[in-house]
Amino acid sequence: VAESDMTLIRMHDYMTDLYHHLLMNTNEGEKPLQYMLDRGFSPELIRSEKIGFAPNMSYFAKNALLEQGYNEETAYQAGLLSRNEENFSYYDRFVGRIMIPIKNHQGHHVGFTARSVDGSEPKYLNTPETEIFKKRELFFNLHDARKYVRKLDNIILMEGHLDVLKVKMTKVKHIVATMGTELSQENLNLLERLASNVTIMFDGDSAGRNATLKVGDILLQRGMNVYVQKIPDKMDPDEYIETYGDKQFEQFIDERQQHYLHFKAEMLRHDAKENDMKFSKNLNIIAGDLKYVKDRIAAERLVTSISSIFGVDKNVLSKKIPEPVQQTQ
Ligand code: UTP
Ligand code: MN
Ligand code: MN
Ligand code: MN
Ligand code: MN
Repeated sequence: VAESDMTLIRMHDYMTDLYHHLLMNTNEGEKPLQYMLDRGFSPELIRSEKIGFAPNMSYFAKNALLEQGYNEETAYQAGLLSRNEENFSYYDRFVGRIMIPIKNHQGHHVGFTARSVDGSEPKYLNTPETEIFKKRELFFNLHDARKYVRKLDNIILMEGHLDVLKVKMTKVKHIVATMGTELSQENLNLLERLASNVTIMFDGDSAGRNATLKVGDILLQRGMNVYVQKIPDKMDPDEYIETYGDKQFEQFIDERQQHYLHFKAEMLRHDAKENDMKFSKNLNIIAGDLKYVKDRIAAERLVTSISSIFGVDKNVLSKKIPEPVQQTQ
């Protein structure tokens, strides 16, 4: 790690501890701490993740960092301060927000995602792109999830940072979130090296369902085994756990890991409604996708379930599947 990067990391370590102290031990932290506890986050989790609070002051981080001997320009480059481009004065980027530290894959603190607690927009404000915080390369929680991902040869992708933290309180540990719903080339290359199975568990709203289809297609076409944990309509993983509890969530993970094409077939069949032309088109789409499923047994099972979802004969579906791109092993 370059010395200049270490300086930015040390600034984050310092601010992470300071924001955490504010949340845990001060009057200003009382309301936001209660907010986190009311949402079902345990004191242990809040401590181990060093969740914090940035007070309602424009120069809190600025003064704290200056006192530590850092200069404003460096704090700006770390993404901790903003700059007024007219008079080049500096002020805090994060004000009146719950601070969730983000670690890079080596476990160093490199950024924050910060949630507003007074309804102000945006709901989440993140660290901007910096020398040490490159969104394209990062998965939230990968440092902690890595050994479980390796052991299970499976990685669960989620949308929300707080979803990851809530799930982390259960027995399910092989979980990460992307920095935004788009997967970068860097993300994809890394995923391939991490596990041969990827499981998408996005929110149960239309944005989450659409993102599932987009990400699922990309991963499938790269030759990965892609699964979906389909969160019930209008819920996200955090709300699922708050509603049904840890045990049922763990059971959901154990028992409801659908193949991505099973999920997609149900979506496409539903989307076709009574439109015969759409029905044919969507059936062709899913048949086209089946050529990417290299595992013979998985492919066979999918032909059975998908033909039943569409209510067509298995052989009709089989005949529609194009020759595989690569020879099956
Ligand atoms: P959601 O709107 O689903 O938020 O956005 P959430 O994670 O469920 O948050 P809570 O439960 O209301 O606190 C999903 C993810 O999209 C990103 C964040 O990473 C968030 O976790 N996002 C959302 C932003 O970056 N900025 C926003 O303003 C909103
Ligand atoms: Mn969402
Ligand atoms: Mn949520
Ligand atoms: Mn959500
Ligand atoms: Mn089904």
